[in-house]
Amino acid sequence: MTSIAIIGGTGLTKLTDLSIVRREVHVSRYGEPSAPLIRGTLGGVEVLFLPRHGAGHTIPPHKVNYRANISVLHDAGIQKVVAINAVGGIANTMKPQTIVIPDQIIDYTWSRSHTFFDEGLEGVTHIDFTEPYCEELRLEILKAAADSNIDIIGSATYAATQGPRFETSAEVDRLEKDGCHIVGMTGMPEAALARELGMCYASVAVVANKAAGRGEGEITLKDIESNLKGGMGKVKQIIESLIQSVS
Ligand code: HPA
Repeated sequence: MTSIAIIGGTGLTKLTDLSIVRREVHVSRYGEPSAPLIRGTLGGVEVLFLPRHGAGHTIPPHKVNYRANISVLHDAGIQKVVAINAVGGIANTMKPQTIVIPDQIIDYTWSRSHTFFDEGLEGVTHIDFTEPYCEELRLEILKAAADSNIDIIGSATYAATQGPRFETSAEVDRLEKDGCHIVGMTGMPEAALARELGMCYASVAVVANKAAGRGEGEITLKDIESNLKGGMGKVKQIIESLIQSVS
């Protein structure tokens, strides 16, 4: 049984080397996920792939049905989820095209459906989220990157912002003061929802741009696209190596 899923982000709506076995339409009690699940094999190993923003990249970060996405992966028997996230680099070391495996999150999002534990409860439920990412999977990703000779940064705090606009430079100053190194719009509530369902979840973040006020001039989609193109090649190599070792 397939046990690992990849949630693709901006710049990764397809896994090109995936041999597609079938597309599966799932519906959850939380509504429809972003797209049908793509079941395929990568290097001979079965994986599920779900493009977070939809197959045609049409769903903005604040409109993603995170509960439906995580719920259908859970129902499909997935135990490990590798989330791909495009981010802005706040710290100087987080240069465009760098791959970062975050180990902490600060959540600045609002009004997203962020929990499975809000109705039909027998009692109020709280989950531990001290370490928001699954350390076992993080270490497997770090090893997969090392095995592929790809330089990555293995620790960072991810600021999850609401979007879809980018931040102001003052907001980025505040994020930096808070201790954040990278900023993206899709890290939450996805990570917390996976934890609520007991799934092992980690993120592979790709720096698409310098965060607002950290680079020269405006953030442009053209720069983001070209940096993501460079970064996603490395992400695919890491995933291919990872899949072989965790299957
Ligand atoms: N801010 C928030 N989300 C992002 C950024 C950014 O600068 N770049 C890519 N996703």
